[in-house]
Amino acid sequence: MSDLSPKVLNREVDRRRTFAIISHPDAGKTTLTEKLLLYGGAIHLAGSVKSRRAAKHAISDWMELEQQRGISITSSVLQFPYKNYQVNLLDTPGHADFSEDTYRTLAAADSAVMLIDVAKGVEPQTEKLFKVCRMRKLPIFTFVNKMDREGRNPLELLEEVENLLKIKSYPVNWPIGMGKTFRGVYDRTKGKVLLFDSEGTHGEARVKVEEIDLDSQRLRDLLGPNRYAEVVEEIELLEIAGDEFSLEQVRAGELTPVFFGSAMTNFGVEPFLEHFVELAPSPAELSDLQVDPKSLDFSGFVFKIQANMNPAHRDRLAFVRIMSGRFEKDMQAKLVREKRNIKLAYPQSMMANDRDTVMQAYAGDIIGLYDPGTFRIGDTICTGGDVAFTGIPRFSPEHFAVVEIKDALKRKQLTKGLDQLSEEGAIQVFRNPFLGDMDAVVGAVGMLQFEVLKFRLENEYNVKIQLRNLPFQHARWVEGEFDQAKFDRQDYTKVLIDRDGLPMLLFRNDWALSYCRTNYPDLEFLPNPPGTPGLEELHGKFEF
Ligand code: G4P
Repeated sequence: MSDLSPKVLNREVDRRRTFAIISHPDAGKTTLTEKLLLYGGAIHLAGSVKSRRAAKHAISDWMELEQQRGISITSSVLQFPYKNYQVNLLDTPGHADFSEDTYRTLAAADSAVMLIDVAKGVEPQTEKLFKVCRMRKLPIFTFVNKMDREGRNPLELLEEVENLLKIKSYPVNWPIGMGKTFRGVYDRTKGKVLLFDSEGTHGEARVKVEEIDLDSQRLRDLLGPNRYAEVVEEIELLEIAGDEFSLEQVRAGELTPVFFGSAMTNFGVEPFLEHFVELAPSPAELSDLQVDPKSLDFSGFVFKIQANMNPAHRDRLAFVRIMSGRFEKDMQAKLVREKRNIKLAYPQSMMANDRDTVMQAYAGDIIGLYDPGTFRIGDTICTGGDVAFTGIPRFSPEHFAVVEIKDALKRKQLTKGLDQLSEEGAIQVFRNPFLGDMDAVVGAVGMLQFEVLKFRLENEYNVKIQLRNLPFQHARWVEGEFDQAKFDRQDYTKVLIDRDGLPMLLFRNDWALSYCRTNYPDLEFLPNPPGTPGLEELHGKFEF
């Protein structure tokens, strides 16, 4: 391993910006991602993501099912340079059923960009994801998208953000016009209007930007007297009545810098990116540091495991967020859970532009390691002294079903598929101690996970299954001595064992759970396996 000087490490950590985009489906996340890549120089002509998506090959949407349904289920990671910064963009799944996966992804991010459709404002999924960011006190940036369409009044929209999400806002820029007349933004830091000109490129290439004065005749002519007067009045109002900018409050997640633009036409994308890299924290500037990112010792945690991303290889990747030091391909590090050293084999880079394997990565970066079954979500790997990162909670499943196989000869593939998908955290698998290994019960946080399970078992493991839904709503792990047979005889509970052989109970409803709590005061009923933190243990009470 080559020597690592503190100077190099400091420089590399300081220039990392690792963030996720959160939004309601259709707000334009895929489009914005693509445009950020365009401005980062990672792709040269926008439209490639779109056209690849059309060809069922989106850069950030790997899975066929996602493409069929037009939703983003898995999370991917894209890295691109911008100016002197190295930007890591984590893609979060947009569907509500995947909140657990989304949560894990956000645990690997240092800030979030909240994307809002100007016509729709704060939508339900935006709100949920926002709350998750809030729990982690992540700095949140707001990008109001689709300004090329007529939408809500920007001031009204900011009010909605503030009232609904209980966060202060500071528009870093202000839209000049809207819909067909959306021509640019007023940059409050520069005190200049940035006029955009797409020159008929339809958003495929970078737009031309020209800086002009707010009181220039040209702007008056462009907007016409009414709209011009409106814009000037709004900007004046912001200066007088708006919140003051405070980097400290941004970093504490109390104030969101707001940007306006149109991902489709590229208007406002670069002004956003320029300010974002300056204002977003580096890994060393987070408020809840668990290790010093500039420590020469390497450490990181597994936040996601994903199998079969490339059907040609059928391999499995563990996604690791590097928390400190430098990663080098094939280095040795300790897997803390098993107290043993392992070699960290780094697969092909996950860069957007399919570059060659990168040999080194630094705190803030995400790496994908080949995983022959070594890792579990939440695992810490490190050199130097042991660290154990907290931050990846488990969600208790709320939907349960018995897996029924159509072709009994495929049982071996089924077991393999279920094992691997449960290791990924895509699903939880339980067995019934009274029936032996024959009937697996699966548990999920959302029903859509069941569809994904079926689809993936069929496509990746060649096993067709049926799922017979079970009428239970809660899973609880039991601490204390209890008579399993007795619980299993009652029809409002069912005893199962989890993949580690720990006993747990399914409850039909709230009543059944509280009945057992009252009648078995010596037993503890935990929403997650003992020692595994749930959301509330990590962050206090939380409501979706
Ligand atoms: P998502 O990943 O958040 O779900 O959104 P995505 O980028 O796929 O965008 C959803 C729709 O909104 C797409 O239209 C996209 O073209 C459009 N869109 C994104 N950004 C803008 C914008 O700035 N302005 C306008 N006017 N539209 C925008 P679609 O009709 O569903 O798909 P397509 O046929 O355009 O590909």
